Amino acid sequence: MPRLKRVLIVTVTVVAVLATVLGAAATWLYAGADVSTAGTRFSRALVIPPLAEPTVAADGTKVFDLTMQSGRKEFAAGKKSTTWGFNGAHLGPTLRAQRGDKVKVRIKNTLDERSTVHWHGMHLPARMDGGPHQMVAPGATWTPEWTVDQPAASLWYHPHPHGKTAQHVQRGLAGMFLLDDDVSAPLALPKTYGVDDLPVMVQDVTLDGGKLDFDRRLLRNTGFLGERTMVNGTLDPYRRVSDELIRLRLLNASTARIYDFGFSDDRPFSMIATDGGLREEPLRLDRLKLSPGERAEIVVRMEPGERAVLRSFPHEGYGSSWQRRFAGGDDTFDILELRADKTLRPSPELPSALAEPEVPDGSDSVRERYFGLVTSSINGREMKMDRIDLTVTRGTAETWTVRNEHGTPHNFHVHDVQFRILEIDGRQPPPELRGAKDTVYVPPNTTVKLAMRFDGPADPNTPYMYHCHLLYHEDLGMMGQFVVVEKGQKAGTVGAPDSHTGH
Ligand code: C2O
Ligand code: CU
Ligand code: CU
Repeated sequence: MPRLKRVLIVTVTVVAVLATVLGAAATWLYAGADVSTAGTRFSRALVIPPLAEPTVAADGTKVFDLTMQSGRKEFAAGKKSTTWGFNGAHLGPTLRAQRGDKVKVRIKNTLDERSTVHWHGMHLPARMDGGPHQMVAPGATWTPEWTVDQPAASLWYHPHPHGKTAQHVQRGLAGMFLLDDDVSAPLALPKTYGVDDLPVMVQDVTLDGGKLDFDRRLLRNTGFLGERTMVNGTLDPYRRVSDELIRLRLLNASTARIYDFGFSDDRPFSMIATDGGLREEPLRLDRLKLSPGERAEIVVRMEPGERAVLRSFPHEGYGSSWQRRFAGGDDTFDILELRADKTLRPSPELPSALAEPEVPDGSDSVRERYFGLVTSSINGREMKMDRIDLTVTRGTAETWTVRNEHGTPHNFHVHDVQFRILEIDGRQPPPELRGAKDTVYVPPNTTVKLAMRFDGPADPNTPYMYHCHLLYHEDLGMMGQFVVVEKGQKAGTVGAPDSHTGH
């Protein structure tokens, strides 16, 4: 045989063998990439985070104390994990305030690392926002204060140190911040905290022995995906309930996982609030998708003595089936079991009208901007702490077009504001996405158009963030900075993050 022919045969054989091996590996990885906890035994009583008790200063300011600390927690019997939390080993208390309240939070960092606390969904001055420029050094205290001026809503708080947010949140630094107002107060909604009004912070975890694992596995290009879920830090949780109507304040506090919530028996529920507050009217649904950082409030009806299982179902919206598999779209999780007592207190029917969302409709936008998302950058640029990407004028509304320019799932979150989703791929958004939002899922090759108004105080030197809330992407640099200025004013300069040494 001529030499050339021999070489050719060997090459072709090697390539064929390699292709077969790679193909088999891909098939094997694909087949092993979905998880299900359907049919789980719910064996632990759901923990309800305590309501933080503020002290009230002479001028009426509500003063909260949050201490960032490390601790140990036994998620499952016999094995302890090292965790972080606020005022405890893991997660944090629920803060609560009224529209019009002056609030102040004394944050003490007793960790051996710098971190921050960001008020996700809160309208507040940039200096108080707790983004990557408001780092709190180990041993230091940072005391942001602001006046709550936005509708009743379920917000949350979590760290935001640039490059390390995923890790800090996954270790347990997260809590809810509930707002009430004069519109929500008289409404006949379930509203007794921990009784018929339950915080439901959903996170996915993998416990490797006792250790909290955050490793991103092969081909998982959206970040860490856990093998099971917990609610408020409780694995396999159940909750006894004694009312006919139960309100669940759902928060996707996972770093990368997208949930499609429903009940295992497909019963309908009523969605009453989006990220930024109450909807115009309750909306009947049987599925509701939430990407990381998004919230929704739903109300479910219980029959005496029955059990209802909140489940996350496999769902579409990932582009290809390959992408869906490796981003968790084929997974099923039994999240929380509600166990109704034999007799239930009657609940009033839900009101037919709730509240008018305070978000612009795009008609008075003075400016349009485009944001192209590709993993690790926005408009081709990675986050830089000392670069202000855009400048907006205080009091004006803008329309932001956000396009996921490739095949990986992303979402988009803007600090300080709530927005209205005007369009998704040129069409009206589905009803569950109408209302005040601060985070929106942006599926592969999809365009969303958002209208928002910048009402905050001007501060040309302190930026707010916009970013993908899949925290692995955010940490990679899928984030940008904007400042709010007075008309005609220029953006200032922003430096490296300052460390607060206490005041
Ligand atoms: Cu929930 Cu910029 O974050
Ligand atoms: Cu935020
Ligand atoms: Cu992303």
